[in-house]
Amino acid sequence: MTQTALMAGAYLHHICFESPNPERLSTFYGKILEMKPKPLGDSRWLCSGEKRQILIKKGKKNKLAFAAFACRDKEGLNMLKKRINQEGIKVTSLKSNLFKSDSISIIDQDGHNIFFGLAKSQSKVSSKINGPLQHLTFATLDVEKFVNFYVGKLGFCISDRVIHPGGKLATCFVRSNHQHHTVACFKSDRVGVDHHSYEAGEWNTIRDWCDHFASNNIELMWGPGRHGPGNNLFVFIEDPDGNWIEISAELEIIQDRLIKDWPQEEKTLNLWGKAILRS
Ligand SMILES: [Fe+2]
Repeated sequence: MTQTALMAGAYLHHICFESPNPERLSTFYGKILEMKPKPLGDSRWLCSGEKRQILIKKGKKNKLAFAAFACRDKEGLNMLKKRINQEGIKVTSLKSNLFKSDSISIIDQDGHNIFFGLAKSQSKVSSKINGPLQHLTFATLDVEKFVNFYVGKLGFCISDRVIHPGGKLATCFVRSNHQHHTVACFKSDRVGVDHHSYEAGEWNTIRDWCDHFASNNIELMWGPGRHGPGNNLFVFIEDPDGNWIEISAELEIIQDRLIKDWPQEEKTLNLWGKAILRS
């Protein structure tokens, strides 16, 4: 099976959330995630920090409008486009103005809009605390269908699987570059986003984030802890719409290794303590 997304070196470049109150949400990302909000008109906002960007538009709470993955180069994007065409994946005409005009937009197995493209160069923004946007995780009724689409059709590569005693998938972590996962998917009783994550890199930077959250009266909702799959340190907070935000560090870098399977139990989700089991 050709690992097209992996060969394209795709990485999560930006996401767009819907919100009933885009101004309030963009103010939160501006202050709490150090991503300066800019109104784009028509109740749309762009929040930009160093290596992290989020778009927010008027709509439903907790709804992902789209997720946008940038490819390493034009050759990688063209490979993905060819694969998408061969697999007969539904293509739409949606565009993001953070990507060059040759981007492609598809609809995944759960109806999410997913873009692949080439990033426009971002005007210089600096943020005090390091935290590039790094991964997006979905909630789904059927993780096997997620794998069939992201691995079987787009060519993401499985890093780890979490498996229920009966053999069904509880979670699957897939990568499109050397980072342990750029996308993951949790079995749930709903379809949507589970969380999105910023990779702080080092433990001390998580400390800086937590001090920053504390100074703004933002409480951690989970962590600190260490995930089994990915071996990353983490804390979680919630935005005013209830979207879960992860700050991660030490996420595993994979050169080459076999897929690892984990049991669906608390310790898999948090080696250090309490877990939030989704199913
Ligand atoms: Fe995560």
